[in-house]
Amino acid sequence: VFISEISGFRVLETQLQEKLNIEQAIVVRGNSDNLDLVKQEIGKAAAAYLRSRQANGQTIAVTGGTTMAAVASVMTPFENAGSCLFVPARGGIGEKVESQANTIVAEMAKRTNGDYRMLYVPDPLSEQSYQTMLKEPSIQEVTELIRSADIILHGIGDALTMANRRKSSEKLIDHLKEQHAVSEAFGYYFNSKGDVVHKVRTIGIQLEDLKSVNKVVAIAGGKSKAQAITSYFNQGKADLLITDEAAAKAIIHE
Ligand code: G3H
Repeated sequence: VFISEISGFRVLETQLQEKLNIEQAIVVRGNSDNLDLVKQEIGKAAAAYLRSRQANGQTIAVTGGTTMAAVASVMTPFENAGSCLFVPARGGIGEKVESQANTIVAEMAKRTNGDYRMLYVPDPLSEQSYQTMLKEPSIQEVTELIRSADIILHGIGDALTMANRRKSSEKLIDHLKEQHAVSEAFGYYFNSKGDVVHKVRTIGIQLEDLKSVNKVVAIAGGKSKAQAITSYFNQGKADLLITDEAAAKAIIHE
C-alpha cells in the first residue's frame, strides 16, 4: 500500500485491477520502452513488495528477461537477514547470459544474502533428451523446489519480439503469426484470448503449477507490452502485476 501512496497512481492501479481482474496492481512512473531507469523503478517496487511480504526464508522462483535482470540489480538484503532461496522457474530458453534465469537468481541471492539453485538445461531440447533429463536427480531436486515455491516472479513479453530474440526457427515464427500469438511468459505463447498457442519444451514451471504457488507476481512494463499484458491476464493466474504508467494507461484505454 505504501508504494501506491508514494507513486500517486492509486486511481490508475484500481482501474488496472478492474480491467485485468487481478487482486493487486502496482504502477511506477514512466515508460520502460524509452528509459531503462524505469525498469529499475519497477525493480525497486518488486523488491519493496518482497520486503513487505517479509519474504525471508521463502523459495522464490524467477524467470529470465531484461526486466527481471533489472529487478535483481536493485535488490538489497531483506530485514532480519533471513535467507531466501532463489530458483530459476524454467530452464534456459534462448536468452543472453545476462538475461537468463540462472544468472538472475545468482544475482538476487548475492544481493539479498540468500541462496540459489541452478537449472542446467540446454535449449532447445529434443523430446528424447527432455525425457532423459527429467529423470536426472539433480534436475528433479530443482523442479521440486520450483513446484513448491512460495512466490514466482515472472516477466511477460510481446510474442514475436520474444520469438525473434530467442532466434526461433522461421517455422515457429510463422506458426506464431498464423495463431495470432500476442504474449509470452515462461516459455508459453498466448493469443489475445489468453489461449496457449505454443510452448517451448524446457524443464521447470508449467502453467498448471501456478495454481499451487502462493503468490504469482507478473512484472512487465512499457507501452509496447500493453496488448501482451492484457492477453496474458485473459488466461488468469497472477495475483499481482507490477508495471509502469505507459503500459497501464495503454491497457486501460485499449
Ligand atoms: O517472458 C518474457 C520475457 O522474459 C520478458 O523479457 O523483460 O526483457 O522484456 P523482457
